[in-house]
Amino acid sequence: MTNQWWRDAVIYQVYPRSFADGDGDGVGDIAGIRARLGHLRDLGVDAIWMSPWYPSPMADAGYDVSDFRDIDPVFGDLSEAEALIAEAHEAGIRIIIDIVPNHISSEHPWFKAALAGGKERDYFWFRKSQNMPTNWVGEFGGTAWTKVDDDTWYLHLFTPEQPDLNWEHPAVRAEFESILRFWFDRGADGIRIDSAALLFKDPALPEVVEGEPHPFHDLDAVHDVYRSWRRIADEYEDRALIGEVWMPDVERFTNYLRPDELHAAFNFDLLGCAWDPYLMRSSIERTLDAHAGVGAPPTWVLSNHDVTRHVTRYGRADTTFSFENNLDGTPADLELGTRRARAAALLTLSLPGSAYVYQGEELGLWENESIPEDQIQDPMYARRGHTRDGCRVPLPWSGDEPPYDFTTGAPWLPQPAEWKDRTVQAQTGDPSSMLELYRSAIRLRAFKDRDFAWLDRGAGVLAWTRGADFACVLNLSGGPVPLPEHETVLLASGPLDGDLLPQDTAAWLRLK
Ligand code: GLC
Repeated sequence: MTNQWWRDAVIYQVYPRSFADGDGDGVGDIAGIRARLGHLRDLGVDAIWMSPWYPSPMADAGYDVSDFRDIDPVFGDLSEAEALIAEAHEAGIRIIIDIVPNHISSEHPWFKAALAGGKERDYFWFRKSQNMPTNWVGEFGGTAWTKVDDDTWYLHLFTPEQPDLNWEHPAVRAEFESILRFWFDRGADGIRIDSAALLFKDPALPEVVEGEPHPFHDLDAVHDVYRSWRRIADEYEDRALIGEVWMPDVERFTNYLRPDELHAAFNFDLLGCAWDPYLMRSSIERTLDAHAGVGAPPTWVLSNHDVTRHVTRYGRADTTFSFENNLDGTPADLELGTRRARAAALLTLSLPGSAYVYQGEELGLWENESIPEDQIQDPMYARRGHTRDGCRVPLPWSGDEPPYDFTTGAPWLPQPAEWKDRTVQAQTGDPSSMLELYRSAIRLRAFKDRDFAWLDRGAGVLAWTRGADFACVLNLSGGPVPLPEHETVLLASGPLDGDLLPQDTAAWLRLK
């Protein structure tokens, strides 16, 4: 009998470049993570998801992998990765690693062999054509084909350094099955599947036409791959497959979560939703209903390495997020954003399912929107005019000024001077800090397997119970509201006014 830990876990995303640097080169690494594992233990998380740590030319910060069975020297080596997995396990923390199946690096031996005319050419999407084979717009914007000689092009849905694999080819499928086993054999407890809905392309290469089946999003054949991956995961004990599936259509989304496919998938619906009681309630209901239909656990995500940090989002006049609607640089009231982010933490940590915490969110970090243009590294910037670097800035650990003990060198992206109050050291022991709020909330999740029910507290208030004696109440109305009858306030995201819950504040209650 498996314990299905992924169903209600708190999962912390480590972005290795920016977590902690152990060797002074300004880039985070495994040595840094091992040295700071105590932070994750004290936070109380159940698992960590490691963004890619494999050898990579870093054209897309490691999402351009040139060898899935090794570690990039900037992060360490394979024996250090194995040591980290063992140490995390000793601390009671599981490890999820990131697999990127849609594409590999143009420096991967397969692509080099393909360019040299080897049989590997069939592992990719090469097409002979005078003009660009399609007008598809890539996922970062811009064109999706690059020319290799007079009339031959290859497909890349992301940067030209990330050629797409041809998933029709059995060698591609066999290779990834072997990679899964490689990491499961080394103790990985789960796999995060990058861009999980993209793998297959319509070989006829039709243009994207509204109302017609999409030529490269969510083709049915992808489900067969995940069924085979599920069979592999099931050969091991308690291993989880978690898909990165950006998909507005809930039914198509939950297809990935059928009982013989993935165990979980990132739910980005709430992340994109405005800070609004009606829209948030309907997003939560939509999510709960859809997951109940397939028996899969919902997931709750507020931030990650691709999106604007939610302290900033929730401080803007427009609190939605989408890649298409670039709000960079619009004014953000960070005090308001922080107040809402604190309330949002109590929301996501008390809904049924698993909650993801993106590194730095527990410190209340905001988006660094003032990175000088010549220091921007994200390849999305050139194509879309939006950089994801602002949410990837190295963590502040201690001290009054950058680099806040992240490194002894110069951090790879600049940290704001205002983060001196947001370091782990400054917040530890301060009961009003974001860090102590997260620590307390994670410690208090004893209700996590109890039944969920909405509690009606009137317009603008979101409230629910978990079992008979726990309630979460979040006030999104325009003024203070009375708390329901309760025995104790277990935790509140901000000061209460007697038995009144102020606006943009959440409380966890023990009911009588
Ligand atoms: C995913 C990753 C993102 C990356 C892209 C291409 O969306 O989260 O960071 O750029 O896939 O691999």
